Amino acid sequence: MKDLLFYYKKANKKGFALGAFNFSNLEGLKAICAAAEENKSPVIVAVSEGAMAFMGEEYITSCVKIAKKEFKAPIFLHLDHGQSFESCKKAVDLGFDSVMIDASALPFEDNVRLSKKVAAYAHKKGVQVEAELGQLKGTEDNVTSEHGHFTDPLQAKTFVEKTGVDSLAVAIGTSHGAYKFKGKAELKFDILSEIEKLLPSFPLVLHGASSVDPKMVERVNNLGGKLGSPVGVDEKLTKKALTEHNVVKINTDTDLRIAFTEGVRRSLIEKPENFDQRKYIALGQANMREVVSNKIKNLLNSAGQA
Ligand code: G3H
Ligand code: 13P
Ligand code: ZN
Repeated sequence: MKDLLFYYKKANKKGFALGAFNFSNLEGLKAICAAAEENKSPVIVAVSEGAMAFMGEEYITSCVKIAKKEFKAPIFLHLDHGQSFESCKKAVDLGFDSVMIDASALPFEDNVRLSKKVAAYAHKKGVQVEAELGQLKGTEDNVTSEHGHFTDPLQAKTFVEKTGVDSLAVAIGTSHGAYKFKGKAELKFDILSEIEKLLPSFPLVLHGASSVDPKMVERVNNLGGKLGSPVGVDEKLTKKALTEHNVVKINTDTDLRIAFTEGVRRSLIEKPENFDQRKYIALGQANMREVVSNKIKNLLNSAGQA
């Protein structure tokens, strides 16, 4: 099978991106894989350390092994935001296709040292490595993003050269979770362009890319949820990042969580007599599949790229 780097290169050339979708149960994993198969798209299925603890690492690798056989699509298992060498090593040893070492909170030299160590270990076993430079912030910090949390392009070049990582997550204004922006969503495309001048064709990654569909949020709130009025990344901006820049991997978790929640809430409210969990989980799962499928088709341009 072609590896992730093959698809990163292809994505860069053709102006699409691979979706990296987080899951933390079997239903989520199957929803993502079914959407990828349906659209003949490569896909990255991502687990955080929290998801590893929740599901159990051996369950994850076993389920993904079966999913890779069952679904006709290139599926890559990725560790999202690995916090330590040990965590990344564990994922590599378990047979993950790709790991992220997220040492972005550490001083530059420490980030370099740790990311380099992970890359050296993972590469010996043919596993791809993503690292992060710059820091994604929460809503409160969005306004202060001028103050040095964005990725520094010159540092990015040095970082990639010193560490040997395969891809780099950059901070250009996105953030994790549902409450990303206080006002209008904005991304720093000038920083992306600077990075690309110094690192031509190098695979870049966008975290915190959920668009947080206001209609889906409204539905959840109307079903008794209390999500308030979150603001995500305008999909026009995400699309620009992947079509006009070297962004080849786009991470989404929050949109899937909200969609899953909508399905479960709706089912429980519409059928209060039901207590068979398979029935309400199925609606959350179907929602999640639809979100992944729509992103593949309408945002990532990765349909037909398997
Ligand atoms: O980027 C982080 C993902 O959304 C995973 O979040 O640590 O709550 O599983 P989690
Ligand atoms: P969202 O919270 O925007 O979905 O970002 C997810 C992410 O970056 C996972 O690594
Ligand atoms: Zn992330």
